[in-house]
Amino acid sequence: MKHVVVLGVTGSIAAYKAAELCGELTKRGCDVNVIMTESATRLVTPQTFLTLSRNPVITSLWGIEDWRPGHIALADKSSILVIAPCTANLMGKMANGIADDALSTYYLTHTGKTIIAPAMNPKMWKHPAVTENAKTLKKRGVEIVGPASGRVACGDNGIGRMEKTEKIITAMDEK
Ligand SMILES: Cc1cc2nc3c(=O)[nH]c(=O)nc-3n(C[C@H](O)[C@H](O)[C@H](O)COP(=O)(O)O)c2cc1C
Repeated sequence: MKHVVVLGVTGSIAAYKAAELCGELTKRGCDVNVIMTESATRLVTPQTFLTLSRNPVITSLWGIEDWRPGHIALADKSSILVIAPCTANLMGKMANGIADDALSTYYLTHTGKTIIAPAMNPKMWKHPAVTENAKTLKKRGVEIVGPASGRVACGDNGIGRMEKTEKIITAMDEK
């Protein structure tokens, strides 16, 4: 597998798991380009992904020195977008076409395969708004991997854990 990947990282407590995914994809020869939301940067630093991906990390729509906005340049070269972890908030923005940061704006420019690995508290995952957003995204061809069942960071049990790295990579490899 040698994809040009955009890895979106959002403000879930599972954001640290994206570092493992990033490192694994780089090791497998993928060209990994990370876009972090502002909330994600409060949980894991861009430096982590800079080092693991060996590419610049996008954390904002603004302040890019290239003549072309970063999200447009990436859309032209990437074949796959994987958002792991994906918050309830980002799912809502994707389902409604909201583009108010680098990742949600990138999503609207991306024409290739899109995979999300939601991660959230089980009560959030069960909320009708999130269920509806998941349905909308699936209908539009977004592949949803997980979430898995088990104990989440806040101590609750149920469906909401980010799916394992291997399962996300398997989904990326499937046609
Ligand atoms: C410590 C902490 C952990 C959080 N974990 C999650 C989570 O696992 N899933 C989720 O959907 N939101 C979680 N949130 C809430 C999101 O960070 C919040 O909804 C934020 O607006 C998401 O922004 P983003 O989608 O742009 O990253 C968490 C918030 C905090 C403070």
